[in-house]
Amino acid sequence: MQMNTQIPALKIENLVKRYKGGFQALNGISFKVSQGDFYALLGPNGAGKSTTIGIICSLVNKTSGSVEVFSHNIDENFAQAKKLIGLVPQEFNFNSFEPILEIVKYQAGYYGIQANIAKEKAEYTLNILGLWEKRKSTPRELSGGMKRRLMIARALIHDPQLLILDEPTAGVDIEIRRSMWELLQKLNDDGRTIILTTHYLEEAEYLCRNIGIINDGNIIIDTSLRELLDQLKKETFIVYLKNPITAAPDIENVSITLTDERTLEITPKENQTLELIFSDFAKLNIQIVSMRNKSNRLEELFMDLVNK
Ligand SMILES: Nc1ncnc2c1ncn2[C@@H]1O[C@H](COP(=O)(O)OP(=O)(O)OP(=O)(O)O)[C@@H](O)[C@H]1O
Ligand SMILES: [Mg+2]
Repeated sequence: MQMNTQIPALKIENLVKRYKGGFQALNGISFKVSQGDFYALLGPNGAGKSTTIGIICSLVNKTSGSVEVFSHNIDENFAQAKKLIGLVPQEFNFNSFEPILEIVKYQAGYYGIQANIAKEKAEYTLNILGLWEKRKSTPRELSGGMKRRLMIARALIHDPQLLILDEPTAGVDIEIRRSMWELLQKLNDDGRTIILTTHYLEEAEYLCRNIGIINDGNIIIDTSLRELLDQLKKETFIVYLKNPITAAPDIENVSITLTDERTLEITPKENQTLELIFSDFAKLNIQIVSMRNKSNRLEELFMDLVNK
């Protein structure tokens, strides 16, 4: 589809949500997601992530504010916006007794796709999600990871430009999570805009270019992942040793913990160079085999932010 690339895939302004009973879940949030972006919406339980997504997809009524999907205002032109969005909701919401091929084809019908085309598309999406073999099974017969993949297959049936996933990898094992990451990356490389909510910071760090952090109904950070990581002063490294040791060495200006007899975690204090630290290791006759960044920097920042 040809589209003016200046138009954001999503533009949210002053979005407020007050639920019946008076609880205010969103306090007037604003953010934009550019076309082609991979955007993570992060935040602790109850922050307002699913509420925001529910409003974008018109499953939840907003109290005030505006939402535009590729410049289509959802109040004025939801039919257009709907065609452009593929949603993978947080909770499974399919009929557990229906064969999965039928579930996906039914969704195509919901988007007005003709039956013969729907069949082809269903085969295609079930194939790329590795579910074609299971097409005659019902969701009850699928594993948790397969159910998640079914949710994604179904969301892709009408070839949406904006894919929104609400915690797609919750409860999914590492291997399947990795394969889902690859798939999402491919969908993004193909030009789709992706918005994802997650509790796994490494997921956001691995996949996303831009990041919004929401807490108590407010956006507290909206920036690029790069900039966010650059803001972090402290950095922790995992250091692998040649020979086992029994206690963490005591070295000035660095905190060190022994995770097992051949693995240390070191966090240099500000202004302390790795070179100096390594020469201290050498003096203690501790030989280093390899090291890597511990990818917890975002996590630390996140804890700092939400505990402020
Ligand atoms: N239907 C509802 N009625 C009343 N309050 C609600 C309703 N749905 C959500 N809330 C409240 O709104 C707040 C935000 O909920 P939301 O589901 O958007 O959070 P979330 O960021 O998606 O959390 P999680 O990470 O746990 O999925 C919570 O305090 C929640 O209790
Ligand atoms: Mg949620």
